Amino acid sequence: MRLHKTLSGQKDEKTPIWFMRQAGRYLPEYRELRASTPDFISYCLDSPKAAEATLQPIARYDLDAAIIFSDILMIPWAMGAGVHFVTGEGPKLTALETPQAIDALSSDDLEDKLSPVAKALRLTRASLAPEKSLIGFCGAPWTVATYMLEGGSSRDFGSSRRWLWRDPEAMDHLLDRLVDDSIRLLTMKAKSGADVLMVFDSWASAVPAHFQDRMVTRPMRKISDGLKKAGVNAPLIGFPKGIGENIINYAADAGVNGVGLDHGVDMAWVDANLPKTMAVQGNLDPISVIAGGKEMLAAADRILAACSTRPHIFNLGHGFNPDTPPEHVGQLVDYLRKVA
Ligand code: CP3
Repeated sequence: MRLHKTLSGQKDEKTPIWFMRQAGRYLPEYRELRASTPDFISYCLDSPKAAEATLQPIARYDLDAAIIFSDILMIPWAMGAGVHFVTGEGPKLTALETPQAIDALSSDDLEDKLSPVAKALRLTRASLAPEKSLIGFCGAPWTVATYMLEGGSSRDFGSSRRWLWRDPEAMDHLLDRLVDDSIRLLTMKAKSGADVLMVFDSWASAVPAHFQDRMVTRPMRKISDGLKKAGVNAPLIGFPKGIGENIINYAADAGVNGVGLDHGVDMAWVDANLPKTMAVQGNLDPISVIAGGKEMLAAADRILAACSTRPHIFNLGHGFNPDTPPEHVGQLVDYLRKVA
């Protein structure tokens, strides 16, 4: 499968390509399908529609991997954390008053409640060309915990950081619960057809450097170890967005086969500092694709040059914005297919 050689630590002759948020609002065909089920959670739990959204970018751009259409907030939703999406505002949850308040929420029925996601994976796998990878994902414990403590998106993650400094053991407790649920969800996804797994730590940048090992790297390591114990051998990509030079420790200790890189890091530095067998993915600023044209292609060239002697998956530094012109994505993919 297309991502496997790279994630086993070898350079592939052709650089595999996929994009974060490749299914989503920048595509007119997605907006049309999505309009048929306005409630976002209900949409994610509609297996045929989730499968269709997953396949849309593959049909349009022939990418090397599909990522199952779902959301990192499906775990707190299944726990009964009051997850809902308000149009124009984003996700809302019932904020936990303390990290320990997680104990009032139950994960007992996680697999049952999220079985439509497993079905969406099976449907997708049945329609996806066998050589294409299917990525299953979850949010990293820290990132999911921020949504649960803040009650939604946040600019400064004030509640989460307050709890971290006041009572780090309580944060360990909250993250451990999320580690267990992440292992269960990823195991279910792997058994339902995901051949690559990815963990999004989108707000790792909010963790003070002193706590990054404890809140970012170690929970990821526990997930990696837990998956192996459960007999899941799918390669694992970790994306600790914005942790800067700590990516060196993360790559060494988190138990991942590949690391996602945000657009703030210099890929030549990454190449010089990470082991040559560690696969790297990402880095293109998604806003460069809104601009399109020669600056975007030159940025792609710089990434390819920096990764020319190491296992590399082409991707963005974060997801596509809804106002990304689909033609620019096409221009980028056409170019990459010629040179990468
Ligand atoms: O194509 C893909 O990448 C697969 C699908 C996917 C979605 N969310 C669909 C989605 C994936 C991998 C995610 C992950 C996710 N969700 C993350 C981690 C990655 C990242 O972007 O940092 C985070 C932090 C979330 C939480 C989340 N979900 C937020 C903050 C929002 C609101 C954003 C907004 O612009 O409204 C969502 C909603 C969401 N998840 C949308 C999509 C396509 C947009 C909602 C819609 O279609 O109406």
